[in-house]
Amino acid sequence: MKFKSTAIAHPNIAFVKYWGKRDENLRIPLNNSISMNLGNLETKTTVEFGNFNEDSVYINDNLIEGKEKERIIRAIDRFRNLKEEYKNLNVRVVSKNNFPTGAGIASSASGFAALITASASALNLNLSEKELSIYARLASGSACRSIPDGFTEWLMGTGNDDSYAISIAPKEHFKIYDLIILVKTDKKEVSSTEGMKKFNPYFYSRLAEIHENLENVRNAILTKNFKQLGIYTERDCISMHTVMMNSGLFYWEPETLKIIKEVRKLREDGKICYFTVDAGPNPHILTLQEYMEKIKEHFMNLGFDKILESLPGGRARVINDFH
Ligand code: DP6
Repeated sequence: MKFKSTAIAHPNIAFVKYWGKRDENLRIPLNNSISMNLGNLETKTTVEFGNFNEDSVYINDNLIEGKEKERIIRAIDRFRNLKEEYKNLNVRVVSKNNFPTGAGIASSASGFAALITASASALNLNLSEKELSIYARLASGSACRSIPDGFTEWLMGTGNDDSYAISIAPKEHFKIYDLIILVKTDKKEVSSTEGMKKFNPYFYSRLAEIHENLENVRNAILTKNFKQLGIYTERDCISMHTVMMNSGLFYWEPETLKIIKEVRKLREDGKICYFTVDAGPNPHILTLQEYMEKIKEHFMNLGFDKILESLPGGRARVINDFH
């Protein structure tokens, strides 16, 4: 028997975002969050357990050491500690993204979702989607939303066993385009994990409106009401960045605000599109097929020529089983 598996997972873009934890160790969030997997972007990860000299992790052909490696090994150890026979096995992880890492495109979400899916399969653990989502959450909160298919909601829950993501609609349900304009792809200065620890009173205002945002975004997805989805997605993004800025975290660059203003202008001009931004400077522009080319052209003409494009994506999945 070979302890080796390869899995693919997509990053996701949150319409209602996760920012703040109720439990740091278990990564229990302050609120539910809703996102869409990004089908054109993916992380492919091979995990092999065996009698290697040591644990090793490669991401995009670079040997990973230090804190980044530790976090990955901690996720693997949750599985290795399940059985006595696994404890002596070392691991080799080889992971590749087809998109820039560390630019607020949630590479930790697809990275950990693929890692968990491949590791569980390599060790023949036969875990349910819910269990995989729980293990992914323990590694990185937003990763739990990259486990199920299409449009997903992370149910915040009350503890380890009931905080996980479910699919609320399959990827084929709603053909939303996400255009990601890359204004800067350097690694961000403050990670999400560190950033969300900086508590300030604006967290309370955000939580006061989050229920309404969740209701509206969920219903907008289910009824395919793009305008409603966009309005509440923008509202939630602004609310999260208000919290961030009050913690001293300015993830936006001048270009970020420029693009946001252009999105509003395009809308006035009848080209329906909405923005959202994660913990980084690169805006995501959500739109429908009929407006897509015109919007891309508009930003290219303004000199923004690095644009990633994606439709909704499927669940995290094993693509190659060597058993
Ligand atoms: C801004 O999932 O990276 O992208 O649980 O500490 O690993 P940790 O945080 P992480 O935070 C993602 C924050 C966000 C919003 C979102 O995707 O919901």
